[in-house]
Amino acid sequence: MRHAGPTARKSPQTSTREPVIQEHVASEAEADGPADPEATRRAAGVTESSRANRGWWDRNADEYQIEHGTFLGDDRFVWCPEGLDEVEAELLGPPEDLKGKDVLEIGAGAAQCSRWLTAQGARPVALDLSHRQLQHALRIGSSFPLVCADAAVLPFADGSFDLACSAYGALPFVADPRLVLREVRRVLRPGGRFVFSVTHPLRWAFPDEPGPEGLSVSGSYFDRTPYVEQDDEGRAVYVEHHRTLGDRVRDVVTSGFRLVDLVEPEWPDWNTSEWGGWSPLRGRLIPGTAIFVCERD
Ligand SMILES: C[S@@+](CC[C@H](N)C(=O)[O-])C[C@H]1O[C@@H](n2cnc3c(N)ncnc32)[C@H](O)[C@@H]1O
Repeated sequence: MRHAGPTARKSPQTSTREPVIQEHVASEAEADGPADPEATRRAAGVTESSRANRGWWDRNADEYQIEHGTFLGDDRFVWCPEGLDEVEAELLGPPEDLKGKDVLEIGAGAAQCSRWLTAQGARPVALDLSHRQLQHALRIGSSFPLVCADAAVLPFADGSFDLACSAYGALPFVADPRLVLREVRRVLRPGGRFVFSVTHPLRWAFPDEPGPEGLSVSGSYFDRTPYVEQDDEGRAVYVEHHRTLGDRVRDVVTSGFRLVDLVEPEWPDWNTSEWGGWSPLRGRLIPGTAIFVCERD
């Protein structure tokens, strides 16, 4: 299924600018990675999901950045595989208003969005669970802090930021998104805004295929059982969690935010490639991404 993983973020363009990646010493989590994990649907709690995804992103960060680096751009702010760019979307507000703002980027990967925010005069902090993803942020270059931490336990004082953002970071992977939302609310100043993108909940009911086979419902939209890849001993090595649209709205509201917009980016004409479960065929018929624009009082 892997909606938000590399298959979901494949570049629609041919890569002409692949990053040079230094060899690195495998961490314990990386060394644990099974060659051929089994894909299943089963329960996975907060700790198991976090541990599995940290290892998975450490092992797969290099491949992710090679595959998607060109599409993402080193210093662009791309919200989703449809290619919606913050320059046109202005979901964080007009770019001229970003100057001097403290912004937390959650699940930043190589921190492409934070680089764009810096260019607007903002003061971003890029946070990610994966150490290897943040090494890519260093490789590309960062003049802002990089923080390796779980989004459910943010290592910041209350009211540290004016804005927070997340492009497919953390929320699709955590067992309890309310832990993240409450933490984000805590570190935002009054009036602060949090914008995050996730796989559109509708996609959960369809096979993750780009062709016609990806247009027939194959499972229940209402089945919240997580998608889990596990090793021979049943240990999760990758986890994705599903929330219905109603669940997501409820999570936002019960965590103390107002939902001020829900954006469903349409598939643009320029995007003609098929990759992973994303394609013009599916993109023109069913939404692929949901972007939640939330504010705290
Ligand atoms: C699909 S990638 C998106 C990265 C980046 N935002 C982009 O658009 O390329 C998801 C990112 O979320 C991070 N992540 C997953 N679970 C997380 C968590 N609980 N806390 C913080 N980051 C997390 C992963 O390490 C990964 O870098």
